[in-house]
Amino acid sequence: MSETVLLVGGGGREHAIARAVVPDADLYACASNRNPGIAELAAETRIVDETDAEGIVAFADDVGATLAVVGPESALAAGVADALDDAGVYTFGPSAEAARIETDKAYQRRFMREHGIPGCPDFETFEDMDAACDYIDAYDGDLAVKPAGLTGGKGVRVTGDQVTKAEAKAYLRDADYDRVVLEERLIGEEFTVQAFVASEERRSSGRIRTTPAVQDHKRAYEGDEGPNTGGMGSYSDAGSTLPFMNPGDYDEAVEVLESTVDALPDYKGVLYGQFMLTADGVRVVEFNARFGDPEAMNTLPVLETPFCDVLTAARDGDPLPELDFDSQATVCKYAVPAGYPTDPEAGARIEVDEASVARAATDDGDALLFYASVDAREDGLYTTTSRAFAVVGLAETITDAEVIAEDALAAAGEGLRIRHDIGTPDLVQRRIDHVAQLRD
Ligand code: AMP
Ligand code: GLY
Repeated sequence: MSETVLLVGGGGREHAIARAVVPDADLYACASNRNPGIAELAAETRIVDETDAEGIVAFADDVGATLAVVGPESALAAGVADALDDAGVYTFGPSAEAARIETDKAYQRRFMREHGIPGCPDFETFEDMDAACDYIDAYDGDLAVKPAGLTGGKGVRVTGDQVTKAEAKAYLRDADYDRVVLEERLIGEEFTVQAFVASEERRSSGRIRTTPAVQDHKRAYEGDEGPNTGGMGSYSDAGSTLPFMNPGDYDEAVEVLESTVDALPDYKGVLYGQFMLTADGVRVVEFNARFGDPEAMNTLPVLETPFCDVLTAARDGDPLPELDFDSQATVCKYAVPAGYPTDPEAGARIEVDEASVARAATDDGDALLFYASVDAREDGLYTTTSRAFAVVGLAETITDAEVIAEDALAAAGEGLRIRHDIGTPDLVQRRIDHVAQLRD
């Protein structure tokens, strides 16, 4: 039977999911914006807010969806996966309760401690901001200050890196958060490993399959300066590891994901681990309950196993298929509105030259365009407050993939900002040197 897949979300990550689904299924998509890349692939797109569980179930019903994939965490937190599952549409994405592994950072750290998940940093949680400030004063060392709830990746402040301890305390007093986590500052290089996960139900093996490591770049400006963003771009190598990692580092991350999944028998969807490779080994920065954005755009284009086979196996209680990946490196770079993330210029008309992306492909490499949080209106394409579009270069090496991504960026017209340093030999070498120095 051919599948009818409902996709929730309208960003770059969801454009990548849409591309992975369409070869093997009919696609229907809903989001609060009209993403032109997804619209071109889907039989129908409907404007429905990602958190409107009732509206999404009604759409699933209208189109006879046999499967659903939820992209954004806001939808998971709003119970969209629960509502679709209750309506009989198997959803690759966790329940709101299981998604707390992402949506409640205090729960996430306590969960790690209770279940003895490896890689948990030293932490404390606070509801009283005065007590949190006292803890900052008394703590011997730097701390990461994390609001417990969702902040689009932009709520964390790290002392000794982005802010002083005095600024961290002022931030806590001004921001008026209900709960915060204060945890040991981890020093090292970050990497992401995403896993496909099926619930334990009716399955004796093959619950979890992992994908190659990716490095995202959270800071807004080149040289890792400026405020944190949702992610300005990312790269992956031709194998599972990154140039600054040993195979053992990747295995340590996989062990963390496996022990997390063991402690969450009902979990299904993507489990995303954000790791810090430190002098003492691999530590967990956070978990997400969905694909990373941009990381989905590195991972799905090189996945050779049909993504729909993963979805149907997860639904049907079969072991998930072993995953095959094309051994190509990828470099993804986002074009974001001027002023992003602090003061993004929404509603600006932009041009994206699709032909220049196509021209960036070479004999040995490919170039892909992913639309993100843009709005396609009758008279053209407009920015929203978030990232506009991404290009991905694919080639045998990170260096070659980076050159292709830069060529493809000729697609970006005026008014957009890009981190040109992502995936360059200089930047990758700095990562390698950093880890070498930590391990010394
Ligand atoms: P999160 O929202 O938890 O992903 O945090 C955003 C960013 O803050 C991460 O990508 C890290 O760069 C940084 N961060 C979070 N926790 C820590 C930590 N314990 N030590 C150092 N940096 C951190
Ligand atoms: N790349 C970071 C995130 O998706 O949260």
